[in-house]
Amino acid sequence: MNILVTGGAGFIGSHIVDALLAEGHRVSVIDDLSSGSRDNLPAGVPLHVVDIVDTAAVAKVLAAERPDAVCHQAAQMSVSRSVREPLFDAQVNCIGLINVLDAAVREGCKRVVFASSGGVLYGDVTTPAPESTPANPVSPYGITKWVGERYLSFYAAEHGITAVALRYSNVYGPRQNPHGEAGVVAIFCKKLLAGEPAVINGDGHYVRDYVYGPDVARANVLALSAACAPGTLTSLNIGTGIGTDVVELEALVRPAVAAAALGRGHSVASPQPLHGPSRPGDLRSNLVDASKAAEVLGWQPTVAFADGIARTAAWFADRA
Ligand SMILES: NC(=O)c1ccc[n+]([C@@H]2O[C@H](COP(=O)([O-])OP(=O)(O)OC[C@H]3O[C@@H](n4cnc5c(N)ncnc54)[C@H](O)[C@@H]3O)[C@@H](O)[C@H]2O)c1
Repeated sequence: MNILVTGGAGFIGSHIVDALLAEGHRVSVIDDLSSGSRDNLPAGVPLHVVDIVDTAAVAKVLAAERPDAVCHQAAQMSVSRSVREPLFDAQVNCIGLINVLDAAVREGCKRVVFASSGGVLYGDVTTPAPESTPANPVSPYGITKWVGERYLSFYAAEHGITAVALRYSNVYGPRQNPHGEAGVVAIFCKKLLAGEPAVINGDGHYVRDYVYGPDVARANVLALSAACAPGTLTSLNIGTGIGTDVVELEALVRPAVAAAALGRGHSVASPQPLHGPSRPGDLRSNLVDASKAAEVLGWQPTVAFADGIARTAAWFADRA
C-alpha cells in the first residue's frame, strides 16, 4: 500500500514508518518538525515539511502522494499548552485533522488511522477502562482528541472510508522527546544520564499504563489493513492494562540507566529521586483495557516493561 504518515518524523510516527517499510509498503511523511526530527526517518522516505494547519500545502502533498491510507499522528500534544492556548490546540488538532481528511477523501484515500488517547478520554479510572467508558475529557487537548474521533466518524459515514481511532495509553520508548512535559521515561533517562536526580511530581503515586512505542507502531500497521467496516469508525484502546506508579517507574529506570551507561564504559551517579510539587489536574490513575484490539486487530503488547525500559535507557545512553 501507499501510506502517508502525518507526524511521521516524531516518536510514534517514526516507529510506524519503520514498521510499514519492514512490511514492504511505500511510505511518505508530512511533518512540520516542531517536535519531530528528520534524523528519526530512514534515508529515502519522502518528507514534506508542512504544517497541517496550512490547507493549501496539505492539499498539494495529498494530490502528489495520492495515498491509499493515511496514518494521522501529527498533533499538538501538550496538555498544559492546550490549557494555555486552546485556540492553537484546536487549530492543529481539529483544523489540521480536517485539512488532512478533506484532502485524503478528495484524492481517493480509503482508510484513515487516527492517534487518539485513552489517557485523556477516560479520566481517573482505577481498573482498565474499556472503550465503552463514557468520554470525560477535562483539557482542551482531551476535547480535541474526542472531537477528532467524532470528525472521523462523520467522514467515514459521509465518504465511505474505513476509520480506526487507536486510543493509546502512555507510550514510551526510543526517540521520545525528553524536552516535553509528557514522556516521563525519556525525561528520567535524560536526567539520570546527566548524573542528576529524577524529579517526581508530588507523592509520585500516579498510576499509568505504559506501552512500548514499537508495540504501538505495530497496532497502527494492523489497523491500516484490518477488516473493519467501511463507513464506520472503530475505536480501540492500545495499552497493557498494567498500572505502574511514578515511584515504581523511577526505581526501574535508575538501575536500567546505570547499567546502560556502564555497558558503554562510563558510570553515572544514580542519585535518589527528588520530590517536586504535584501538577494540578494530574489524574491519579489511568489504565486501558485493550481486549477489543486483541479481537479486532489480533494485537497484544509484546515487550515487557522492564525490557522496554532497558531498551529505552540503552537508546538514550548511546546518545548521551
Ligand atoms: N506519547 C504518548 O504517550 C501519546 C499518548 C496518546 C496519544 N498520543 C498521540 O500520538 C501522536 C504522536 O505522538 P508522539 O508521542 O509521537 O509525539 P511527537 O511530538 O513525537 O510526534 C508528533 C509529530 O507531529 C509533528 N507535528 C506537530 N504539529 C504539527 C503540525 N502542525 N503540522 C505537521 N506536523 C506536526 C511533530 O513535529 C512530531 O513529529 C499524537 O497525535 C499524540 O497526541 C501520544
